[in-house]
Amino acid sequence: MKLTVNNLKDTENIGKIISRCLEKGTVICLDGDLGVGKTALTQFIARGFGIDEYITSPTFTIIKEYEGRRPFYHMDVYRIDSEDDMYDLGYDEYIYSEGVTVIEWSHKINGILPDERINIEIQRLDDTRRIMDVDGKGKAYDRLAKELKDYESTCN
Ligand SMILES: Nc1ncnc2c1ncn2[C@@H]1O[C@H](COP(=O)(O)OP(=O)(O)O)[C@@H](O)[C@H]1O
Ligand SMILES: [Mg+2]
Repeated sequence: MKLTVNNLKDTENIGKIISRCLEKGTVICLDGDLGVGKTALTQFIARGFGIDEYITSPTFTIIKEYEGRRPFYHMDVYRIDSEDDMYDLGYDEYIYSEGVTVIEWSHKINGILPDERINIEIQRLDDTRRIMDVDGKGKAYDRLAKELKDYESTCN
């Protein structure tokens, strides 16, 4: 589904909705150009998930861990050259864990993403407006799709 986002507040609302749908092992993949709002959305998801810390892109460390309702792993794989590098960083232990994982630039590791995941592709329209294309597979995605439909109907 495609969502039109008019401002940062809409992104915050969507982040909050996503945070309610996260379960053990949920993986959220965020893609879109630099500055489109992947980290901003992650920040709002994290806040809704009970994390008060300020979140920045882990561009150099690749993975950062936070503690919310469950462990929350934030990855930025922009600088990853090969999928093998991800395994060296313990990728498997993160995505098949009790926690949830958000992956910025996920298309760079497309071959090793789990089947069940939430995909969000963000496009910039102007300074504050975005298109979010949301799809995926699995229980968390099914719940999210339903909640986003309800949300959209309250916006129109
Ligand atoms: N609707 C919006 N959604 C997300 N970010 C927005 C929006 N409108 C403006 N912004 C701004 O765009 C920037 C997005 O930066 P960031 O989240 O770091 O992007 P990325 O992680 O995709 O590189 C932030 O400065 C944010 O405040
Ligand atoms: Mg980022």
